[in-house]
Amino acid sequence: MGLVGDKITIRGGRPLIGRIEVKGAKNLVTKAMVAALLGETPSILRDVPNISDVRIVRGLLEAHGVKVTEGDEPGSLLLDPVDVESAHYADIDAHAGSSRIPILFCGPLLHRLGEAFIPDLGGCRIGDRPIDYHLEVLRKFGAVVEKQPNGIRMSAPNGLKGTKVELPYPSVGATEQVLLTAVRAEGITELKNAAIEPEIMDLINILQKMGAIITVDTDRVIRIEGVDSLQGYQHRALFDRNEAASWAAAALATDGDIFVGGAKQAEMLTFLNVFRKVGGAFDIHDDGIRFYHPGGDLKPVIIETDVHPGFMTDWQQPLVIALTHAHGVSIVHETVYEQRFGFVDALVEMGATIQIHRECLGGHPCRFGQRNFNHSAVIAGPTKLVGADIEVPDLRGGFSHLIAALTAEGTSTVSNVGIISRGYENFITKLRLLGADFDLEG
Ligand code: EPZ
Repeated sequence: MGLVGDKITIRGGRPLIGRIEVKGAKNLVTKAMVAALLGETPSILRDVPNISDVRIVRGLLEAHGVKVTEGDEPGSLLLDPVDVESAHYADIDAHAGSSRIPILFCGPLLHRLGEAFIPDLGGCRIGDRPIDYHLEVLRKFGAVVEKQPNGIRMSAPNGLKGTKVELPYPSVGATEQVLLTAVRAEGITELKNAAIEPEIMDLINILQKMGAIITVDTDRVIRIEGVDSLQGYQHRALFDRNEAASWAAAALATDGDIFVGGAKQAEMLTFLNVFRKVGGAFDIHDDGIRFYHPGGDLKPVIIETDVHPGFMTDWQQPLVIALTHAHGVSIVHETVYEQRFGFVDALVEMGATIQIHRECLGGHPCRFGQRNFNHSAVIAGPTKLVGADIEVPDLRGGFSHLIAALTAEGTSTVSNVGIISRGYENFITKLRLLGADFDLEG
């Protein structure tokens, strides 16, 4: 269950060595659970990680009358939407907390109930995270969107009809919004400038299993022919490539050797290229990928985060620690989120040499170039990190802080680690398995 203590004391300097397993991707599983709402019969989802984001979605589904029980194998869920009903906004608010997932309930609930409600969704430490694309898309399907004091109420008096959408930016969430709405809308929907992340493709696999008709063309165009009804699915979730990349970054920064069971090459091609350029080594196996530090100096690199198949924004924070060990100057240009370097302050406190800039460094001008956002980092190495008391700012920044403390000389106390269990299943047990030296407080 959830993390007992919220503080961890780490004595750094030990290489992480051993084997851990990664399960289904947080960024697919949570959407697959929502997709079950569209089915007229129950769904079974396998390889569901035991993380708090899954518990949030489970709570939201149960608040809407969906029965969620253990499935046909450990780590699987049976999702029965037969008795779906409207939920009281207070229930939605209570379950949603800071999660952004309620926005994706809109399409399925409008189809099933003709109405939907979402509480005001905050941003998080990595950016404003507006939902303007989502609302624009739902209006185009024919939804009536009403702003209310405590959130947004939606209805579809004339049903939802297929439409043409071109996203200003290949947003993952907005693409999922279109998919979850178009599959049962009347007629054809054409989506241009779509996100094509592996998690999107796996969601499309699920929807097609349910009876949907979805064509993925070249050049980010997706066509969906709406159908009258969908059935429940049975699906094993795609592995979590963000968690796999995080443990790989930990292996490299701690001079370690970690076998990540469940990791696959195809979804991590871009990460593996950069990992090798920095000086890391990996072996591809049928049941996972071994990541290790082969010895020798690490090399600086220029990383520009981007939408798939570019270097994923969620990979940069964990990998930055290894870049503080590299011999030379690395650059990370963050082009997906405008405020994703909040985690750097603590690293500088620990002795890293990192400067943050507003300019688009190391690559191509991006959306944030002229908008006064600190979205490029210059990392000079090698530097030796020294233990300190630091606080976790966000999910991936939190994992990065764990790695920093594991590589640092001396002892660090990392607080607010509960955030990390939002996206990393049993990370405390995994640290123990890999030989980390730490105590969990509280
Ligand atoms: C998903 O977020 C992931 N979260 C993120 O992972 C991931 O970083 C992101 O996709 C990009 O790959 C989940 O799947 C739960 P977006 P999402 O819509 O869907 C702007 C993690 O650590 N935008 O592709 O919210 C937005 O502000 C998380 O696991 C608008 O401007 O990402 C951002 O700058 C962090 N208006 C950019 O697009 C909108 O209406 C990308 O956002 C929607 C998005």
